Amino acid sequence: MKRIEVELGERSYSIIIGFGLLDRVGEIVEGLNLGDSVFLVSQRSIFSLYGDRCVESFHRKRFSVRSSLFGEEESDKSWESLQMVLQELVRFDEPGKKRCFVATLGGGVVGDLGGFASAIYKRGIDYIQIPTTLLSNVDAGIGGKCAINFCGIKNLVGSFHQPRLVLSDLSLLSSLPKKEILSAMAEIVKYGVICDEKFFAYIEDNFEKILLLEASSLEYVVSSCYKMKADIVAKDERDTKGIRAKLNFGHTIGHAIENTYKLSHGEAVSVGMVAASSIACHLGMLSKEEKNRLEELLKRIGLCTEIKGSESQKIMEALLHDKKFLGKTRLVLPNRIGEVKVVDGIEESLIQTAIEERMEKGEII
Ligand SMILES: NC(=O)c1ccc[n+]([C@@H]2O[C@H](COP(=O)([O-])OP(=O)(O)OC[C@H]3O[C@@H](n4cnc5c(N)ncnc54)[C@H](O)[C@@H]3O)[C@@H](O)[C@H]2O)c1
Repeated sequence: MKRIEVELGERSYSIIIGFGLLDRVGEIVEGLNLGDSVFLVSQRSIFSLYGDRCVESFHRKRFSVRSSLFGEEESDKSWESLQMVLQELVRFDEPGKKRCFVATLGGGVVGDLGGFASAIYKRGIDYIQIPTTLLSNVDAGIGGKCAINFCGIKNLVGSFHQPRLVLSDLSLLSSLPKKEILSAMAEIVKYGVICDEKFFAYIEDNFEKILLLEASSLEYVVSSCYKMKADIVAKDERDTKGIRAKLNFGHTIGHAIENTYKLSHGEAVSVGMVAASSIACHLGMLSKEEKNRLEELLKRIGLCTEIKGSESQKIMEALLHDKKFLGKTRLVLPNRIGEVKVVDGIEESLIQTAIEERMEKGEII
């Protein structure tokens, strides 16, 4: 069992990583003084796999538990689901009852919606995260960003609300579909590019073991990503200093591709990272060898680095509407593997060329 601290003053919390932790969640939470009633937010499919074990663990420590289950899709991270969850929370949290807190059991969709419900209910109540996807174990589970999609725009309505604990039981990943593991690999590679060349090299040597969820590699990779994200969040909790923005490497172009082509998030981020690296090469920031090294790793892992089609104009339109773009041509670009920089004022034609290159197998450098 490993423990990592997210250092945020009075909002600090621990991430506990290990195998078989779900059966101990009641005992682990007991000492945190969060309340006596657990409002468990999850999805039907995840609850059917792990809900009983989670509820039993809380019951063993005399917590009362009510579960609230919403839909399975990204589109269920919606106003309607939020409203349903909040209505059930109000019914559970009757006046005169003991203090209640939220526990999210699921991937990023559950964590974002459950976290946001706890952020706005009674102006904020405590919550804990029990991430069940590889992505939520390396990224979404920590950092306190929680949101729902609104008016067709991803994560438009949300807030910052830090969890009180993140319990990463890596044995829960054994039921995860292979495509979800692959998709999360793009985010894992991203950490290597934005923070740590040695970690990148570790993925080059060990990605097959990670894909097979081999215990020691998995624990190493998840705890390393958590450490990197915890460090970034501690320096820039509210994403105002340009430090947390580093986590968007590959995402601005990636989101635009995801919206236009309906690729998985990981595949779109993979293409987005290569496109951003091409732009960095063109600006003289990154060597062609380093860009090729990244592209090669993504290909070896089985992620796509090119897209079939000719919709570069549509991707550009989607990109310019991305809220992260904020009207500026701002992208996170690598200087080298292990270091990135936020760059403003990039010519739109250069971005479009980099996107076209991903479609036509051409090179701009
Ligand atoms: N808050 C943040 O900082 C942050 C960061 C990154 C991503 N996100 C958000 O996270 C979401 C994506 O999260 P995700 O990739 O975890 O996807 P997800 O939550 O949609 O889960 C993917 C699928 O896997 C299923 N699933 C989850 N755990 C499972 C398990 N153990 N076994 C079998 N099936 C399981 C889910 O039901 C779902 O169908 C997006 O909405 C994104 O915006 C948030």
